[in-house]
Amino acid sequence: MKLLKHIAHLGYGSRKQVAAMLRDGRITDADGNELDADSRVEHERIHLDGEPLDIAPGFVAMLHKPVGYTCSTKDAGRLIYDLLPSRWRAREPAVSTVGRLDRDTSGLLLLTDDGAMLHKIISPRAQVEKIYEAELAQDLRGDEAALFASGTLMLDSETTPLAPARLDVLAPRRARLVLSEGRYHQVRRMFAATGNHVVALHRAAIGALTLGDLPSGQWRALDAGDIAAVFQPPPD
Ligand code: URA
Repeated sequence: MKLLKHIAHLGYGSRKQVAAMLRDGRITDADGNELDADSRVEHERIHLDGEPLDIAPGFVAMLHKPVGYTCSTKDAGRLIYDLLPSRWRAREPAVSTVGRLDRDTSGLLLLTDDGAMLHKIISPRAQVEKIYEAELAQDLRGDEAALFASGTLMLDSETTPLAPARLDVLAPRRARLVLSEGRYHQVRRMFAATGNHVVALHRAAIGALTLGDLPSGQWRALDAGDIAAVFQPPPD
């Protein structure tokens, strides 16, 4: 892709604005040589005002989503995009979340501009496991693990039962739940089906990928090893 289009697609401005940046000599290679609209230079070697460009197209990133942010580009209130570089809203292809977390759920959220990768992760065939930690309003009854593992639990207004899921009890009102599918408000609805109520929900891992020490509200790009971890089973 030509330089002008490449930089415009990264959200730095319209083609007209990027043309002006080129004319003004603001776009250079890593050695400071001015580039022109037809230049073909590796993404990593392009600088604007002496700074490297944003992350290259075809990326996957993780965000440590705090409670109170919505996974949407246009809802009222705080949006997860407020926590990401503002230029990402203007990128082409668009940056999307890989699935969603509810406004009141915290934890690991993936983002990508790579449609094929997004579908690969969310495809039921991939069986990517998501690990949630739930804090509950009432003590667990004791039969939840068997019910969730049964593959017969039918949620309200659904036509097919949930796939078997694994529940580990961490404390009388705390549990870890491993899901291989992602239905609407699934964790909250599963516990509601047992007469309980989720008071706090956190996604700790997707496959073997965890947040590590990424602070709440921060994001980072994934490398090839991180992406491979998404498709691996979570640690026990
Ligand atoms: N299940 C839920 O109920 N909420 C989430 O955000 C994710 C899974």
